[in-house]
Amino acid sequence: MAKKVFIKTFGCQMNVYDSNRILDTVKKIGFTETKSLDESDCFILNTCHIRDKAKEKVYHEIGRVKQNFEKKEKPLVIVAGCVAQAENTEMLKREPYIDFVIGPQSYHKLNNTIENFEKNKFRSEITDFDSVSKFEYLSKIKNDASEVSSFITIQEGCDKFCHFCVVPYTRGPEYSRPYSQIINEAEELVKKGSKEIILLGQNVNAYCNIENGKKYKLSNLIMSLEKINDLKRIRYITSHPRDMSDDLIECYSYSKKLMPFIHLPIQSGSNKILKLMNRKHKVEDYILTYEKLKKINKNIEFSSDFIIGYPGETEKDFQETFNLVKNLKFLNSYSFIFSPRPGTTASSYDKVDETISKERLKILQAALFDNQKLKNKSFENQYVNVLVENKMKDQKNLFGRNEYMTSVIFKGTESFIGKVVPVKIISSNQNSLFGETDISKIKAA
Ligand code: SAM
Ligand code: SF4
Ligand code: F3S
Repeated sequence: MAKKVFIKTFGCQMNVYDSNRILDTVKKIGFTETKSLDESDCFILNTCHIRDKAKEKVYHEIGRVKQNFEKKEKPLVIVAGCVAQAENTEMLKREPYIDFVIGPQSYHKLNNTIENFEKNKFRSEITDFDSVSKFEYLSKIKNDASEVSSFITIQEGCDKFCHFCVVPYTRGPEYSRPYSQIINEAEELVKKGSKEIILLGQNVNAYCNIENGKKYKLSNLIMSLEKINDLKRIRYITSHPRDMSDDLIECYSYSKKLMPFIHLPIQSGSNKILKLMNRKHKVEDYILTYEKLKKINKNIEFSSDFIIGYPGETEKDFQETFNLVKNLKFLNSYSFIFSPRPGTTASSYDKVDETISKERLKILQAALFDNQKLKNKSFENQYVNVLVENKMKDQKNLFGRNEYMTSVIFKGTESFIGKVVPVKIISSNQNSLFGETDISKIKAA
């Protein structure tokens, strides 16, 4: 009987991609996926280390597995991802229930490690940074995802070392996958029914790879993907403001498939704080990029990330962030209170009082959410183009996304799945649009 694997994923889209690839990998040694922890022979926890209590969350999850299997044979327990990379042997010492830990750049060693463990029960930690071998290995294994919208990691790691961020330590140095590997993977996914490809990287717009003497950047990748006939939409995430180069900006003037929505984190509206963060860009640089893009296409919308209560943030600095949000009117954004991460430069800085940070976050989020609600309201009584992804759990409604990644819920038939259909928006809330379809328009589309 096939062994069953249960994979639980925390963190960013790159972890979601990795978990899918982990599944493709362990299928090679006889595992099939289960969505039920109870029936699993192998439990893999893919972890995130970006903020607070990430480590404690892992031990809590392992505790739950332990409880679940108290009276049954224990499954193989593997901790993968960014906490595994950061904590490595500590985890094995603290929690004997964990069989081995494996970092994000070592998944090409997963099957051997599982097989070795099954033979000799040797607990180990595999945490080399070897992105080249990881992607060489993964590119030989079919990406088995069959969603309408699929992720492809094109770039891993980071050399920028923002003072608050753990990513350079958990994902290692910046690495761009070979261009042809990515195009092959995209073509395969489209053949299997994907209509949207979302290119991923911690600094996706820093993508740069030299293959057979030719240099490929993100703009080259986008224009090559553009030529895949059945592919309808292209997106990329997460971009760094410094790497928003002119060739990439130009793509928005000629690509028909690149969506007009850019996640471009600024973190703070204060130059003093950006300097303390080691961001290596100023607010003015950000606004210049924003304006260049708006000039190319006024319909482009932005989202951002903000860190509130960063060490050194005064009321004046916060006010500058608040004003920026009011001026640039982001479509939606992520905002969190600064969380000191072990090993990072900012972890030793004096913290802003927690009550003050919480109050500032509340004020900022109210402004961000107002923008979001207003933008969503502006779609009411208009037709938006929706890429339909699936039927919702209620079995009555369809789920899809408009060009700006906003969820759209409407009634329709299963035959719409995988198509871009015009949907008339009737109502909206902060996170979603609700609409109806006009069959005559769909036939014409
Ligand atoms: N590379 C992207 C960039 O430079 O904008 C960000 C990638 S990071 C994985 C995602 C987001 O997590 C960051 O934009 C930042 O807002 C947030 N983040 C990272 N470290 C944090 C920390 N120590 N405390 C709070 N938020 C943090
Ligand atoms: Fe982290 Fe992004 Fe800064 Fe890199 S550029 S250190 S991933 S926040
Ligand atoms: Fe988290 Fe690692 Fe992604 S720390 S945000 S899973 S790169």
